[in-house]
Amino acid sequence: MWRELAPLGRNEDSGGYRRYAWTAADTDCRAWFRAQAEARGLAVETDRNGNQWAWLGDPLAAGAVVTGSHLDSVPDGGAFDGPLGVVSSFAALDELRRRGAEFVRPLAITNFGDEEGARFGLACVGSRLAAGQLTVEAAHRLRDADGITLPQAMEAAGHDPGALGPDPERLARIGAFVELHVEQGRALDLTGDPVGIASAIWPHGRWRFDFRGEANHAGTTRLADRRDPMLTYAETVLAARREAELAGAVATFGKVAVEPNGVNAIPSLVRGWLDSRAADQDTLDTVVAGIEQAAREHAARTGVDLDVVRESFTPEIAFGHALRDEIGALLKGSANRDTGHDIPVLGTGAGHDAGILSASVPTAMLFVRNPTGISHSPAEHADENDCAAGVTALADVLEGLACR
Ligand code: GLV
Ligand code: MN
Ligand code: MN
Repeated sequence: MWRELAPLGRNEDSGGYRRYAWTAADTDCRAWFRAQAEARGLAVETDRNGNQWAWLGDPLAAGAVVTGSHLDSVPDGGAFDGPLGVVSSFAALDELRRRGAEFVRPLAITNFGDEEGARFGLACVGSRLAAGQLTVEAAHRLRDADGITLPQAMEAAGHDPGALGPDPERLARIGAFVELHVEQGRALDLTGDPVGIASAIWPHGRWRFDFRGEANHAGTTRLADRRDPMLTYAETVLAARREAELAGAVATFGKVAVEPNGVNAIPSLVRGWLDSRAADQDTLDTVVAGIEQAAREHAARTGVDLDVVRESFTPEIAFGHALRDEIGALLKGSANRDTGHDIPVLGTGAGHDAGILSASVPTAMLFVRNPTGISHSPAEHADENDCAAGVTALADVLEGLACR
């Protein structure tokens, strides 16, 4: 599976993945998913919001056990963020069949659409729509960098956007959702464990800062006469670092657009996107308020106009103790048998569909060790033995939840 998936959407120059929602690369990944499901005799459906489901057993029965992740990527993402969860789900089913496991509940493997939000700016669009955490109107307003709307992109990729919207009956039939994911930090490397269980996801959000100044000649405009939004942007980036450091949080400007983007012109507009996350809501609010205040002060001093728009927000998610404890018990002495201690329980600053669904469905996550912690980069990695340990752990969990 890994070898077949590896070339899809891979950029030769960077070695990273560009699997953006509803592009040709995404279509290829979806075809791969369908082929894997059909090869296993699973019934494939795409739900109204563009999420793929591969069913073993009756999709309309109650108490389904669902596992899976996403196949889309950030710009020049790694191979593991998302795909490891989907591949491991199919591999875990293969393992359960080898064990002769007898399913007493329906099992579904999922590929959630547009988890990363790389194209339309909002993460977890497929799961947010299904869970009613994104309105159809707001989804219709999403546009990519070329001005193509989400419905237009869906339609061009062959998915009818006419049925977008909440899917409460579908979610009500799910007894448990378990997402396996590569760890995006080094907690497991530090404890020496191949597999861990998620406790919570930090509250996180994305804010767009529009700094408007005055375009002018880079050679002839006196420094004192300039209204240069790039300076305010630069000050704001430094403020983000400062505020995050003070609060023990994180804040990142990772995407910026400049108009007119000419080497010999003072910009008229600098648009920067802030991603900020913290262990609790108060801290996050303090960090973002501090960044915005620093930006406004500099803007006012230099004649720059500033608009700040919160483009998305996900509150803190604490995965329910009941399922987490059940999984801990199922994995006791198995997943981490080499290290001889209990499976670690860890929080994360990364967002996931599991976090979105946790408001509607009992939800849990498994993490697989990432020896460098690097993620959202072509250098993202997990060792094959650890991936295999992840598959075994997921199979143990699914067997405990879905089989006799
Ligand atoms: C998704 O991977 C996110 O945490 O931004
Ligand atoms: Mn990601
Ligand atoms: Mn992911």
